[in-house]
Formats: sequence, structure tokens, C-alpha cells
Amino acid sequence: MQSSPNQLSRCNDVRNGINVRVFANAVDANTCVATEMAALIRQRAQDGKACVLGLATGSTPVGVYRELIRMHRDEGLSLQNVVTFNLDEYFPIQPDAPQSYVRFMNEHLFDFVDIDRKNIHIPDGTHPLDSVAADCCEYEKQIADAGGIDIQILGIGRTGHIGFNEPGSGRNGLTRLVKLNSLTRNDAAAAFGGLEKVPKSAITMGVKTILSARKIRLLAFGEHKASIVEQAVCGSVSDAVPATFLQGHQDVQFLLDEAAAEKLVSNQNESGDSC
Ligand code: GLP
Repeated sequence: MQSSPNQLSRCNDVRNGINVRVFANAVDANTCVATEMAALIRQRAQDGKACVLGLATGSTPVGVYRELIRMHRDEGLSLQNVVTFNLDEYFPIQPDAPQSYVRFMNEHLFDFVDIDRKNIHIPDGTHPLDSVAADCCEYEKQIADAGGIDIQILGIGRTGHIGFNEPGSGRNGLTRLVKLNSLTRNDAAAAFGGLEKVPKSAITMGVKTILSARKIRLLAFGEHKASIVEQAVCGSVSDAVPATFLQGHQDVQFLLDEAAAEKLVSNQNESGDSC
């Protein structure tokens, strides 16, 4: 018998305001998030309203998109009432470049569902530098005009970045052009075929933009994320690890596999409390 998405997590705990949920594997965590998104999409459709999703790239959320595609194909889930805003994009980059987040989203979600293309928003990596600031203001306006983001999906970079808000990014940041951290550029080097080919900049929603979402669901899988997940959940709130700003959000969940949660478990004190 298949367990319902709410029964999938093995451990469900609140630490520093973050609902930490540990799953046996990434598939269960992805199913949980996709099911929550699908329920909201259907609810809004019933009410004749749009559902606004904040989307992320990277390897982590791919399974969520796969599950949404499956629900679209097998269970009649329609994304016609969905409006999306992606977190970030490299700058400069052309949309058809293999590493562009436009291409990533097409290949992992948009090409396989019935979303209306005019409802898709991704920061534009093709415009001249001197028009980027105005583009970023316009992106914030589009989010506000859509009524704000209902559910924001996040991964986490090894620097503690969310979107491309690298260490040093403050709580009040909005969508803007940023310099990429060297660890982040190193992590992207294989995808670009060498460090020197990785763009030095990116456009990203700011921490404030992300915190404005009504629900935030951060996914992290694998032991290479365990240390930064521990810092994000247990560390003091600081721009040194931008993901710590999530501790102040009213509805935030971290959905982890056991490997990514490993240091949280070992960080428990004798009473069983953590951090
Ligand atoms: C990139 C993205 C982030 C993502 C991070 C982690 O930097 N801009 O949004 O969270 O990579 O990627 P992965 O999920 O592949 O570990």
C-alpha cells in the first residue's frame, strides 16, 4: 500500500522556526512537495483563481518536476492556472545555452505540461547590463501584480545561498544582479565545461523576495549538503549564511533525506532537543 504524502516523513520537528522533515529518500520528499503543490493548484482552479509558484533550478528539484509531469499525464493535473517565477538566471547567458535556466525549466517541466507560456517568468540573462536594474524592478512588480508567490521551492548551495543570494546578501535584498561566489562557480564548472566558462554574475530574487512567499519548501539531499543544512537550521541568523534568514519565515519546511539531515541528528542534546 502506498503511504500518503503526509505519512512519508520519518521525523517531523520544528527547530528555530523551521519545520524539519526527514524522509527515507529524495523520492518521498519530492512526492510530498509535488502533492502539496498539486493540491493548491487544483484548489485555486476550483475557485477560478491562479496559483503562483516560485521555482528553482539545480539537480535538487528535478524530482518534484518529474512528479508534477506524472500527475499531469496520469492524473489529469492541469497547470493552465499556474503562474511561475524562477529564482534566478546566470548573467549573461542566452536562453538556448545548455546551462541556461530557461532551457533547464523547459527540459524538466514546461515542455511536458499545459502551462500557458505567457505565465512563465525567468530573469532575463540576455539584456544589456545597463537595463538589468530596470528589468529587476519589473520582475518584482510582476510578482506583486500576480498577487505574490504561494509556494516557493528552494534548493541550497554549499555556500548557504538560496537562489543566488551568496554570503553577504542581506535580509532586505530584492531581485538584482549579483557576483557569484568562487565555490558556487566551481560547483558549476563541470556543467559549463570549465571554470573560466562559468559566468561571473547572475540575476537573482533577493532574500526579501523569497521571504515574501506564503510558503517556502527547501529541499536538500545527500551528505554533501549536511553541513550547510545544519548551519542553516542551527546557526545564528546572519548574512554569512543567507539560508539562516529562513528561520524567520512563518511557513517554512526543510524536506531532507537522511544523509542531508545527518548533522541535525548528531546535533541533538541529551533531552532530544536540537540546536
Ligand atoms: C544553483 C542554483 C540554486 C540551487 C543550487 C544548488 O546555485 N542557483 O538555486 O539551489 O545551485 O544546486 P543543486 O540542487 O544542484 O545542488
